[in-house]
Amino acid sequence: MRSYRLPSGGSIPALGLGTWRMGENARTAEAELAALRAGLEGGCRLIDTAEMYGEGGAETLVGRAIAGRRDEVFVVSKVYPHNASRKGTVAACERSLKRLGTDRIDLYLLHWRGTVPLAETFEALAGLRAAGKIVDFGVSNFDVADMETSATLASGAVATNQVLYAASRRGPDYDLLPWLQARGIPMMAYSPLDQGSLLVDAKFRRIAASAAITPAQLAIAWTLSRDGVVSIPKTGRAERIGELLAAGAITLSPETLAAVDATFPPPRRKVPLEMT
Ligand SMILES: NC(=O)c1ccc[n+]([C@@H]2O[C@H](COP(=O)([O-])OP(=O)(O)OC[C@H]3O[C@@H](n4cnc5c(N)ncnc54)[C@H](OP(=O)(O)O)[C@@H]3O)[C@@H](O)[C@H]2O)c1
Repeated sequence: MRSYRLPSGGSIPALGLGTWRMGENARTAEAELAALRAGLEGGCRLIDTAEMYGEGGAETLVGRAIAGRRDEVFVVSKVYPHNASRKGTVAACERSLKRLGTDRIDLYLLHWRGTVPLAETFEALAGLRAAGKIVDFGVSNFDVADMETSATLASGAVATNQVLYAASRRGPDYDLLPWLQARGIPMMAYSPLDQGSLLVDAKFRRIAASAAITPAQLAIAWTLSRDGVVSIPKTGRAERIGELLAAGAITLSPETLAAVDATFPPPRRKVPLEMT
C-alpha cells in the first residue's frame, strides 16, 4: 500500500477506511465491527474516526477492531471545535484514547474551525504531542485562508487537512490542493464516494464499466490519482471491503481520467470549500 510522507517525517497510508455513522446503533454494530476487521485483514492500515461519530460509539468500535494489532494501524481521530480549548482538547483526547484502547493517536485533527482561537487549540495539540498522546496533529474543513492562518500559527506542524474531495466535488483542485502539494502536506479526501451518490451517476457508471472496474473503485482510484491525496471511503459491510481496498492498486488510464474530466470538469475559478 502506497504512503505519503508527513511534514514531521512520519508516513501516512494513502488509503484507509472511514467510520462516520458507525457505532450509532447497537443493531448494526457487529456488522460494522466485522467490516473494520475485514479491512485490517485485507491490508487496510489507516482508520479515520472522530469523537463526534456515534458520540464516541465509532471510536469504541475502532478500539475493538484494533485490539491486539494496534501497531499495524495508523489511527486518525478528531476533536470537536467546541472541545478545542486548552483544557478541553486534552480532556477530549484522553476520552478518545480510552475508547480507542490505546496510548496514542497517530493523527489528531481539529474537526472544523470553531470559536476557540486557533492559537489556543494548536498550543493544546502541541502539548499532547510533546506528552506522546498524539504523534501528529492537523486540521479538517480548512480552506486556503484558514490554512494560511494555520501556517502562521503553527508553521510546519500541521500534518494534514481533511476535506470533502471526490470526482464530483472538485473545488480543492483549483487552489487548496495545489497549496498543500506545494508545502508537502498530504490532503485527506473524505466522502470520496460522495456518500454513495457518485456510484449511482449514470455517466460515472459508464466510465467505470469501460475501465472494467466498479464505480466505487473508480471513485477511490480517482482521488488516489492526485499527488499527495489520502482517500478514506467508508463501508459498514464486510462484503464491500475487498472491492474498496482493491482500488488502492488501480492506476487509471489517461482516457479514463479524461472521461471523468469531461463529466465533472475541474473548477475554473475559486469554489468555497464544501462540507458534508
Ligand atoms: N472531516 C470531516 O468533516 C468528515 C466529513 C465526512 C466524512 N469524513 C470521513 O470520511 C469517511 C468517508 O466519508 P463518508 O462516510 O461521508 O462517505 P463515502 O465514503 O463517500 O460514502 C459512504 C457511503 O457509500 C456507501 N458505499 C460504500 N461502498 C459502497 C459500494 N461498494 N457500493 C455502494 N455503496 C457503497 C456506504 O454504505 P455502506 O456503509 O452501507 O456500505 C455509505 O453510505 C467518513 O466515514 C469519515 O471517516 C470526515
